[in-house]
Amino acid sequence: MNPETRAQVPESLRPVYSLIEPELTALEETMRRELGETDPFVSEVVRYAFKLGGKRLRPVLLFLCAKNAAPAEDTVAAAHYLLAAAIEMIHTATLIHDDILDGATIRRHLATMNVRWDGETSVLAGDLLFMLAMQMITRLDDLEGYRITAEALKKTCLGELRQVGARNRFDLTEGEYLDIIGDKTAALLGCSCRLGAYFAKATHEMSLRYERYGYNLGLAFQIADDILDLTGDEEQMGKTLGTDLVNRKATLPLIHYLHTSNPAERKEMLELVTDEDLANGDGETIIAMVIDRLTKHGSIDAARCKAETFIDDAIGLLPDEVAYRETHAALVELARFVVRRKS
Ligand code: IPE
Ligand code: IPE
Ligand code: MG
Ligand code: MG
Repeated sequence: MNPETRAQVPESLRPVYSLIEPELTALEETMRRELGETDPFVSEVVRYAFKLGGKRLRPVLLFLCAKNAAPAEDTVAAAHYLLAAAIEMIHTATLIHDDILDGATIRRHLATMNVRWDGETSVLAGDLLFMLAMQMITRLDDLEGYRITAEALKKTCLGELRQVGARNRFDLTEGEYLDIIGDKTAALLGCSCRLGAYFAKATHEMSLRYERYGYNLGLAFQIADDILDLTGDEEQMGKTLGTDLVNRKATLPLIHYLHTSNPAERKEMLELVTDEDLANGDGETIIAMVIDRLTKHGSIDAARCKAETFIDDAIGLLPDEVAYRETHAALVELARFVVRRKS
């Protein structure tokens, strides 16, 4: 791993990442090689997207699932490097597009691409990364692997689009919310785990099991992210927060509140979240009031509890037969990290 990316790894995950140190180094090299572009402007733009790197969570899951699913713990194949790089490129492209949707100004501790350049650059750079990634996967000559990835990418786009359609919908149910985050976030995390196992020659059933582990982890990951959007620290997260309320996205704490409060409380909350000041960027006091009410009502805790049930489900899906392996413990640790994370 390069020093900048290493600095992004949360302290408590260092032992987990150290298990796959060579794989993570190979991942960075693969991405650097694949993003080699002769046009100076395109080069600058695509490299910018990877400048600080993120947590590399999807590649980490892919490698750990590969090792855990393989007959011997050390069988990570060359295909895995290409797959992990492709998945990280897809993920990064979704973030670039997502920052336009959310009007975000900071990502991975840097100005978002739409601020550093503009919306046009962001749309096209994201599209380019999607295509480069899919093209990399075709090189593996494995139709099933291509299908698994294309399906997850389709779901990610669908989820983001459905979320745009759900703006202003404060009657959103928990079920609808989970469906949306299942598509927009959990599908790609599930896909990373499945690809890791599938290319380590796991059986079809076993690969699906790893996918379900990743999917459940992904649901918890997005619920935690939505809690952090309300209560997190921008400096620590390295990205713009508070965008869900500003963009009138109902997330789990708010959905819980609106479904469990009395009519008067509900009416007041609806007035707060539809206040014009929020959209005008003048909503700091309102955001603080919303958070205060959600906290006192127990809605933040209820959302966190829900996330924890998905983590328990995820861990329960890991195969017992290899529970003695270090990679098993790492997958458990990673799942637990998802709800406790602060960045
Ligand atoms: C952010 O994902 C987008 C969500 C799905 C919430 P990450 O938190 O994995 O982003 P990076 O890659 O570490 O920047
Ligand atoms: C978007 O969710 C997740 C994607 C699939 C891109 P968010 O909008 O919550 O992600 P952040 O908080 O901007 O990283
Ligand atoms: Mg966003
Ligand atoms: Mg978010």
